[in-house]
Amino acid sequence: MRRRGVKNLDKRLEESSNLIVKDPISLKGKWNTLFNNNNPIYLEIGMGKGDFIIEQAKRNPNINYIGLEKFPSVLIVAYDKLKDLGLTNLYLVVADATNLLDMFEENEVSKIYLNFSDPWPKKRHIKRRLTSNTFLPKYEVILNNSSTMEFKTDNQELFEYSIISFNEYKMKFIDISLDLHNRLDDKGNLLDIISTEYEKKFVSKGNKIYFIEVGFNHE
Ligand SMILES: C[S@@+](CC[C@H](N)C(=O)[O-])C[C@H]1O[C@@H](n2cnc3c(N)ncnc32)[C@H](O)[C@@H]1O
Repeated sequence: MRRRGVKNLDKRLEESSNLIVKDPISLKGKWNTLFNNNNPIYLEIGMGKGDFIIEQAKRNPNINYIGLEKFPSVLIVAYDKLKDLGLTNLYLVVADATNLLDMFEENEVSKIYLNFSDPWPKKRHIKRRLTSNTFLPKYEVILNNSSTMEFKTDNQELFEYSIISFNEYKMKFIDISLDLHNRLDDKGNLLDIISTEYEKKFVSKGNKIYFIEVGFNHE
């Protein structure tokens, strides 16, 4: 969802505060020095305009968050929402998930979120899906033993593809919902869900939201 014609984008990125990490590769294995603590690091890949990760960071001050987005024109929208909030547990990175291993050391991340990832419907583009085995080995390296990955989408085809992909990669299935927004907790109440921009749009149209949490079977 690249945004075209964003005015002065390069200048705005250059002049942005250090909330946009300018050299993520130099932080490989040292992200805790940026956050100045040893709290767990949760990473959202394909963060988009940031609503989900900003709300997560507000609610969970003892967790460090990194929002990764490949298009600077999109990330700048998240930055504009974030810059005056005073949060010290969230940083943004312009990068493609293909390069995760340049930015993160083995076991450096404690949770990965994939929210409404691009479906790449054409067969020849399947390898670009963030739940394909192009990416799973990279996630496996950077995630620590006890950590998990959460994936949400309204796209049934992508969801089914992803379950098969996780199964073929011999991942652990921890939780699943075929209608997350109508799921009830133990007391019969609807869940308190932190929604993304896409999620809000799809829920308002009446689409079902699929959810799955998986982990890796580290050898
Ligand atoms: C459909 S949008 C969803 C945005 C947001 N997660 C939401 O739910 O509102 C998918 C986002 O993932 C980003 N993206 C796709 N592939 C990526 C990759 N390989 N690395 C980083 N970001 C990626 C896109 O640029 C886009 O902003």
